[in-house]
Amino acid sequence: MFRTLQTESPRRSITLTVEGRTVEAREGDTLALALLDSGIDHTRTTPVSGSPRAPLCLMGVCFECLVEVDGQPNIQACMLEVGEGMRVRLQSGARCAGGVE
Ligand code: FES
Repeated sequence: MFRTLQTESPRRSITLTVEGRTVEAREGDTLALALLDSGIDHTRTTPVSGSPRAPLCLMGVCFECLVEVDGQPNIQACMLEVGEGMRVRLQSGARCAGGVE
């Protein structure tokens, strides 16, 4: 199970929604961290077998963390800082690069 380290410096709380569920995060966290910290066990499924995938490298290399953010698909959750009111959907299968299916 993933668990973040507690820090001494207080950071503002951010609220976002993931698949319609309200998730709390801390200002400055990446979206991948917020998702893992909230107990979400995968961010996308593969196009061929539909098997679940979760953030792995957390530095923009593996592309296992792709999600849809505010209607835009193929967003690397590990490379995006959380924002107030962000709407996140887990990504299923292949998505085209232009956001139109
Ligand atoms: S976790 Fe590897 S690219 Fe995001």
